[in-house]
Amino acid sequence: MTYRIAPSILSANFAKLGEEVDYVLASGADIVHFDVMDNHYVPNLTIGPLVCEALRKHGVTAPIDVHLMVKPVDRIIPDFAKAGATYITFHPEASEHVDRTIGLIKENGCKAGLVFNPATPLDVLEYTLDKIDMVLLMSVNPGFGGQKFIPYVLDKARAVRKMIDDRGLSVNIEIDGGVGPANIAEVARAGVDTFVAGSAIFGAAKDSDPQRYNSVIAAM
Ligand code: DX5
Ligand code: ZN
Repeated sequence: MTYRIAPSILSANFAKLGEEVDYVLASGADIVHFDVMDNHYVPNLTIGPLVCEALRKHGVTAPIDVHLMVKPVDRIIPDFAKAGATYITFHPEASEHVDRTIGLIKENGCKAGLVFNPATPLDVLEYTLDKIDMVLLMSVNPGFGGQKFIPYVLDKARAVRKMIDDRGLSVNIEIDGGVGPANIAEVARAGVDTFVAGSAIFGAAKDSDPQRYNSVIAAM
């Protein structure tokens, strides 16, 4: 299995975002996790396509994993595709027509993923698993960085891994929330291959040290 580390820029210093992203990538991160919050679907407000485009113009070539915590979801998808998103993931409860939203993401040239809140059942995967590229399991309730990992999500990870393996698919499983060096091995054993970490990575080092993320990323 190929494991990937996806730092969540939600915990980065937004005043120096380009630099922060350069450093985590230079320190071994694989994907940039980009949290989009609308103060409607979730009680927080963050960043949109402009910032994604700015990262591309800054020279970021790594995959950008856009996690949409917005409702409605469809109308912002083409803008994120134009802004350089690689993955676009959305919460099924934020879309009126899940199949249509998956199709829209793909028509716009991006990889599609579904996001499940901790208490959201996985039923929708029955008819969508073969149409998506990634399942994102929230291990905290969405809206904020720095929350505590909810352990029962490991059972969901095992269930999704079984569904993917039973059907012979190559869908990625990503986990988001409360992940860091202390629990990443256990999360990997549950079948997860892509690990979002915000506070564990960006909270780990001093701003002035250019190598500031080396040791925490190496520990993951
Ligand atoms: C929460 C976001 C996460 C968050 C993770 O709604 O989707 O990506 O930034 O942060 P940590 O790793 O600090 O839990
Ligand atoms: Zn996220």
